[in-house]
Amino acid sequence: MMVLKLFGIIFFCGLLPPSQEVLSGLSCAVSPQAMQNVLSDAIIHNGLIHQHLQGLVVPNIMGEGSQLNSPTSITDLHLIKVRVPRLSVVLLPGIGVQLTIGAKLQLRGNCLVGLLSELIDILVEVNITANIKCTNFESGTFQVVTEDCLCILGAIKIKVLSGLLTLSVNELVLRQLTATLPALLCPVVDIVMNLVNIHLLSTLNAVIPVGTAGTIHYQLASIPYTSGKFLGLDLDGVVKQVGGSTIPHDSSPSALPPLMDRLLLLVMRQSFLNAVLSLLLQLPPQTFPCTPEVFSGASRLREAVRTIAPAGCSACSGTSPLSIKLVLRGNPLILLEENKASVKLSVLIQLFSNHLDGSILNFLLLKADLALNVRVSIVGGRLVLQLALGSTSLSLESSDVGISNISTLKPHCSSLLVETFMPVINGALSMGIPLPKVLRIPLVNVDFQIKAGLILFLV
Ligand SMILES: *[C@@H]1O[C@H](CO)[C@@H](O)[C@H](O)[C@H]1NC(C)=O
Ligand SMILES: *[C@@H]1O[C@H](CO)[C@@H](O)[C@H](O)[C@H]1NC(C)=O
Repeated sequence: MMVLKLFGIIFFCGLLPPSQEVLSGLSCAVSPQAMQNVLSDAIIHNGLIHQHLQGLVVPNIMGEGSQLNSPTSITDLHLIKVRVPRLSVVLLPGIGVQLTIGAKLQLRGNCLVGLLSELIDILVEVNITANIKCTNFESGTFQVVTEDCLCILGAIKIKVLSGLLTLSVNELVLRQLTATLPALLCPVVDIVMNLVNIHLLSTLNAVIPVGTAGTIHYQLASIPYTSGKFLGLDLDGVVKQVGGSTIPHDSSPSALPPLMDRLLLLVMRQSFLNAVLSLLLQLPPQTFPCTPEVFSGASRLREAVRTIAPAGCSACSGTSPLSIKLVLRGNPLILLEENKASVKLSVLIQLFSNHLDGSILNFLLLKADLALNVRVSIVGGRLVLQLALGSTSLSLESSDVGISNISTLKPHCSSLLVETFMPVINGALSMGIPLPKVLRIPLVNVDFQIKAGLILFLV
């Protein structure tokens, strides 16, 4: 019966899809050092923890008298100053972030020993250690819980005006603070971490405009995970055109390459990049006269067309002005290979002339399949791709005047595209692909690596 039940469970689990179809265009590995910087900034340098420790009131400390000592009571004990010189982070695989905050608290109160009442200052060093766990993931957000919070007290210094203090007061204070501080400090860590979490989540979930073409909606695709070496984040990037339709991509998370000694690794996937490229390269048709002002090889192209025209083509030898129309056909396709990125793109090249009666004589309609080399850079937090023409393959779509052999046109068409089309393409790409400001870690001194299907950014 037991065995059957077990089989039942395994069988049932086997029927579930392997993963719930998480899309991830972009993944990040954040090093412990980077997490430490991020959390130090958010918790200490922004004064968040100071703000939430303000007004801290510590329960009264009471000591029974003994033969040697008078009864002691310390009342109205409150925080007057806090210094937080140190925060450290350890990543615990499968658990989360272990945070240690070192703090120096200065407490002041009234001390009554026997009949003598005076001000007492207590300086206590404390290390607060807690595990911060992510939980309740839902549509890009999650909550954090603080677990296993410990307060370890270090040196205590006590000052009273009279200077009269016995060793036993020291012990009493240490014992009582050890008992009461965790219940005071751990909830503060919990509140602060919840606020920090909201603050940091906003860096992962953001809608960023891509010029006027549309937007990329970055969103955390699944709950963050920790290995001993990094904190892993998978983000989806939903690419939306103005007007609302989504350009789909099917990127899925994959194992991240090693982070080495870097702070942050960003991995962008090919399919996501293709969706963004389709958004950026929605170019209107380009129409212009075939004149040397627009294109330096205009006369040579005209001459080449005239040469290949059939003998009976009267329009071909005429002097009516020739026009050119360039139209992007289909979507560009980026291909990422080891140390190499290229884009494939097709352009229709129409050579035509307008007749006085408004009709169009289509000398040639050509299709140029371009292979473009990609250069990658990061400018102002945006990934900029610049393309250069590698090779062109030309084919004839149609000709109203009976041209059939276009083999001599290739060099003319290549220089036409280099001079008139590539600047338009690169102009459209120059606005760049906005990247999320992951945990506000600045993207400076970024190195790139291109692998099969991936671009890696190392900070
Ligand atoms: C607090 O942590 C620091 C750094 O880990 C350590 O040097 C110090 O001894 C600790 N203090 C106490 C009281 O545990
Ligand atoms: C096309 O023209 C080129 C150059 O004029 C010539 O070498 C080639 O054989 C021609 N091709 C065909 C299929 O006629």
